Amino acid sequence: MRYADRMNQLGTETAFEVLAKARALEAQGRSIVHLEIGEPDFDTPASIRAAAARALDEGFTHYGPSAGLPEVREAIAAFITRDRGLKTAPDQVVVTPGGKPVLTFAIMACVNPGDEVIVPNPGFPIYESVVRFIGAKPVPMVLREDRGFRVGAEDLEPLLTPKTRMVVLNSPHNPTGSVLTPKDLDEIAALLRDREIFVLSDEIYSKILYDGVHESIATRPGMAEKTILLDGFSKTYAMTGWRLGYGIMNPTLAKHVARLATNVYSCATSFVQRAAIVALGGAQSEVGSMVTEFHRRRDEIVQGLNAIPGIRCLKPAGAFYVFPNIQALQMTSADAERILLEEAGVAALSGTAFGSHGEGYMRFSYANSVENIREALRRIGAWVQSQIRAAR
Ligand SMILES: Cc1ncc(COP(=O)(O)O)c(C=O)c1O
Repeated sequence: MRYADRMNQLGTETAFEVLAKARALEAQGRSIVHLEIGEPDFDTPASIRAAAARALDEGFTHYGPSAGLPEVREAIAAFITRDRGLKTAPDQVVVTPGGKPVLTFAIMACVNPGDEVIVPNPGFPIYESVVRFIGAKPVPMVLREDRGFRVGAEDLEPLLTPKTRMVVLNSPHNPTGSVLTPKDLDEIAALLRDREIFVLSDEIYSKILYDGVHESIATRPGMAEKTILLDGFSKTYAMTGWRLGYGIMNPTLAKHVARLATNVYSCATSFVQRAAIVALGGAQSEVGSMVTEFHRRRDEIVQGLNAIPGIRCLKPAGAFYVFPNIQALQMTSADAERILLEEAGVAALSGTAFGSHGEGYMRFSYANSVENIREALRRIGAWVQSQIRAAR
């Protein structure tokens, strides 16, 4: 059988492949520490689970409007208005199964084949995948370690061409954990304000923040109209498997995105949407404890990695990833990923899973217990020592 040519353009997320390999090794009796998965290891707060159960009993088991249940769109609009200081109306909200459809649909609705989309590199691989899939060209915006993996107007300006249709920003950032400062956002906004370019602002880690502040570029003068703000429940409320996210965008684009939803999945799950109202209104103390615990783990893993010869690791300000430099180990990141898993029993991702500019780096997710993080550090340390001995 022949399949459509466009499938050759579609990428993937290798985290799921590494997870499958790690599980296969575990099935053979091997012990693996999982630092590959990008999801909180906490349970969804009890109040949210109870709200979903209640909604099931109340009959929220039917189709709803493609843009989301009206009361949920209202709750999200109120939340974004108070949390980001961005005046948002319900007709600017589209509720989606996870944050991912927001980015896929925004790109489909705004970008033509042949257009250029500026994407962070290293960055979440799905941006580039979708851009290629629709026949557009991803233009890498390089995040450099010596700039703390942040990007600013000076990185963006040389990449702009008459074909640039969209710029993707992601702060806090996957995989580096960098956070754009208010000044970075001011300067990027000033550069884009008078151009007909959309900004996809992926803010899915907005609440997983240790240093600095999170602001949305949509709050800058002239930017609300052209920004698609992506956020959701997966990371903030440990709800990855529930599949619930949302986009904030201008009402015309919201209609386009809702029409794409009608064509693909009709609507986000109704009883899950109802639980979102409780999440936004009431589960903030659980979010606070989760972030406090992530903070402790961040400090532990950064300190532990920097104590290993040949590894250098910046301290990220947000998300739950570290992106250490392993260039001194003198192997490719893909080899390090494979050998760490097979020989050291630590599942992690090659920096190149996030684009070519991730070469020389690894991504470790610290969404795992301190005990497991310490065990992973012990295994990585022992493996590096054995490499050094072998090289002598
Ligand atoms: C940067 C980034 N954006 C979006 C998503 C998608 O989140 P969701 O699970 O809500 O679809 C992820 C998930 O890993 C992510 O890391």
